[in-house]
Formats: sequence, C-alpha cells, structure tokens
Amino acid sequence: MSRLSPTDFAAHGPLRVGLIGFGCVGQGFYDILEQLPNAEVSVARIAVKSPTKARPLPAERFEFNADALVHDPTLDVLVELIDDAEEAFRLVSTALRLGRHVVTANKAMLARNLPALLRLERKHGGTLLYEAAVAGSIPVLRTLDAHFGAEPLLAVRGILNGSSNYVLSCMAEQGSDYATALHEAQALGFAETDPTLDMAAFDPRSKAVLLAAHAFGLLVPPERVLNLGIENVTAADIAFARSQGQKIKVVADVRRHRSGAVSVLVTPQLVAADSPFYTVEREANGVEATAAFGGPQFWRGAGAGGHPTGSAVLADVLALRRGCRYRYAKLRPEAEVRLAQNLELNIYLRHPDEAVVGEALDWLGLPGAALAADAGGPYATGTVPLTTLLAWRDDLRARGIFVARTGEVRKAAQSILLNSAVAAETAA
Ligand SMILES: NC(=O)c1ccc[n+]([C@@H]2O[C@H](COP(=O)([O-])OP(=O)(O)OC[C@H]3O[C@@H](n4cnc5c(N)ncnc54)[C@H](OP(=O)(O)O)[C@@H]3O)[C@@H](O)[C@H]2O)c1
Repeated sequence: MSRLSPTDFAAHGPLRVGLIGFGCVGQGFYDILEQLPNAEVSVARIAVKSPTKARPLPAERFEFNADALVHDPTLDVLVELIDDAEEAFRLVSTALRLGRHVVTANKAMLARNLPALLRLERKHGGTLLYEAAVAGSIPVLRTLDAHFGAEPLLAVRGILNGSSNYVLSCMAEQGSDYATALHEAQALGFAETDPTLDMAAFDPRSKAVLLAAHAFGLLVPPERVLNLGIENVTAADIAFARSQGQKIKVVADVRRHRSGAVSVLVTPQLVAADSPFYTVEREANGVEATAAFGGPQFWRGAGAGGHPTGSAVLADVLALRRGCRYRYAKLRPEAEVRLAQNLELNIYLRHPDEAVVGEALDWLGLPGAALAADAGGPYATGTVPLTTLLAWRDDLRARGIFVARTGEVRKAAQSILLNSAVAAETAA
C-alpha cells in the first residue's frame, strides 16, 4: 500500500513498482533491476504512451493509461519517467494528493512546480524523491539535503548537462562542428527529446533551481534564472579558449553572497586548467560544493544515459524502503532567503559579423567596449549586469551570438525576497 511505513516496507517483501515511461531511463532502471534480483524491487505494471511502438519486452507487459497506475493501491512506489513535464506534473501531483510514494527524474517538471509539490507532499503524507533529476548518477541532492543539512554552504557549482558537455568535448577534442557533435550526442541517448532544452541550457537551469532549494533554501522560479547556452558556439570560440589555456564548459553557479543573498545562473564559462571542471569531459557531470567549515568538495560521475540515471532512480526507490524523505533543512519560513539582483558578469561574446558584435554591445550597454579580432574573427569582452543579460538573452540567441563568462560572479548588494512571494503565487 502507498502509506506503508518503512517498517511495513521491510516486512512485506519485494516493493511493487508502477513504472510510468519506458524510454531511455525507464529501460535503464528496468534493466538494472533485472541484473539485481536481490534488490527486492519488482516492476509490477508499466505504462507508456504509444500502443504501436516496438518494445524490447512482450506486448502484454505494457499498458497505456498511466492514471490506472497512480490509482492502483497495490503498488508501493510510482516511478515517473516520462518526457512530458505537464503530464508528469498532473500524474505526480495526483499521486501526492493520494499520499503515494513517488520517484521522478523530471527536472523540468520539478523546477517549475517545486513549491506546489512540497505542499502536497507535506499535506497528504506521501514522499517525493528525485535524485536522478540532478547530475545523473552523482548523489548530490541527498548529500546536500542530509549531510550538509546544518552546515552553511557558500557555493554549489556544476556541469549538469551531459549532452552540452559532450558536444563541447567533441568540438575541442575532435574538431567536430556543432551539428555533428550534437547528432552524436543524440544518437548515444544523452540528449533530451528536444535538444533545445540541453543546448540552450534550460535543462541545467532546472537543475540549478533544485540545487538552490536544497543547498540554500531558495525557491526560485526558473524564468528568473539566467541561462545562456551553446547553440551558437563555433570553432572560433573553442580556439579562443584554447589560446588562453582554457576550455569552455556550461557551468551552473549557485552561491551565497556576503549580503546573504543567493545568486543562481547557468552560462558557458571559460575555465582554467586549475578548475575541477576543466577535466570533466563528454557526458560526465561534475559538482563542487563549498561548505563553510568543510571547504570545497568535488564529485564527478555519469550525468546522463539509461543506466547511470536508472541507478539514481533505484537508489531513491530503495531509500523509500528506509523511510527517507528530503528534509529541505535550509528551507525554513523563519529564514527567508533573498535572490541576489545586481550581479556583474565578465563576458566574452562573438559573432562572425563585426556589425552584429557592435549591435550586441549596444544592447548590453557596452558602447565603449573595444572590439577585438583573432584568426576566428571579431569578438568583444566586457562587464555586464546580470539583469541586462537576462533581458537580452533571447535576442542574443536568435542573432547567433555566443556569450560566455570569463570570470567569477561579482557583487550582489541588492536582493529581493522570494520564497514567501513564490509560496503565495503557488498557493493562489
Ligand atoms: N535520458 C537521460 O539521460 C535523462 C537523465 C536524467 C533525467 N532524465 C529525465 O527522465 C525522464 C525520462 O527521460 P527519457 O530520456 O527516458 O525519455 P524518453 O526516452 O523520451 O522516454 C519517454 C517515455 O515516456 C513515455 N511517455 C510519454 N508520455 C507518456 C504518458 N502520458 N503516459 C505514459 N508514458 C508516457 C514514452 O512512451 P512511448 O515509449 O510510448 O513513447 C517513453 O516510454 C525525463 O523527465 C528526463 O528529463 C533523463
């Protein structure tokens, strides 16, 4: 039954899982269970979408109405692994209203709806775990939530998207062009169904939102978080980074400033050889957490793919057996966290047409910034407020301009109160 206590779970034999979605991650999770019979987890029902798709299991294993699983009281755990964030929210929120135990990997759904999901979890006594939603196989969320529950964190940074990292590695190591490298990442199953989510950094933005909640107790709506991607990256950018002894990586940066406010952003960044991110290649992810007393710690692991992600899903399912739930220790009503507002970012931007670079500098309020040029064509560098980049993000992307950070996030004296506003919005 869905409301079993940890003790009941232990007593009643293999956990009966309702698996919703049998794509890359669903199949990875299923395959791991086949190889680990001692895990005592059995997939009792599987729901998918398309009745006509060829499947690796007999047709009678599949059904096409996920709601039937959500409402099946004989299932102990629902594992939601579909590629549709809206439908996933409908299914997961219905399950939580019924007090069910749910495991999901759907970071887009979680990032958009975290306050509402937390309320449902608390109100109806169910459980929601989602380790697989951030950094694939790396157990980052539970570590932040449990191990660092009391100790203040100063920063959590990460390469959180295996597909864009794979593309950047192929371009740097093999000299592949962007389209070829992306095609390769898709063929290997690392990319989301919609590659824009990966390449324009919407996917790591969702993950940064989840990190902000667990590491700092900040509930930030994803649209308030700057995400710059690599859709416009070219060989000229890779060569520029190399000429500086650096590499381009898409880095999520969540940090507490001296004012106490927290900033959250995801952008390409030029990283030097002494950065732990410099050697995170291909589909790997890397996360660095800097704790007030423990100092910096770095984890590296597979960030995507059926087995690595399925392994994190299984860890959550087994954690349910032990009665685990996230504590959200930093998310306390009396400890309102502010979103930092007035960051300044050092950036590099490039486009093959000098006039377009000039146009971008006007947009960003950098008319005086000196244009430079190298063998790859014109580029510019300068310091820009985060809010300006947020305002022009879509135009920069549409115009084919590549933008990367060249240094650390600076200054954040101003901030806004967010959690109570977000909670009020989602309660409405
Ligand atoms: N791929 C990764 O490496 C990775 C890593 C971390 C997290 N994730 C997350 O894990 C989730 C699944 O990703 P994926 O790569 O496994 O996706 P996928 O390969 O595209 O598979 C999606 C699965 O969901 C099923 N589905 C879609 N809508 C459904 C519905 N309404 N009812 C029942 N089933 C439905 C599809 O059914 P059909 O088979 O009939 O099409 C398919 O089996 C996503 O939230 C993704 O963001 C993925």
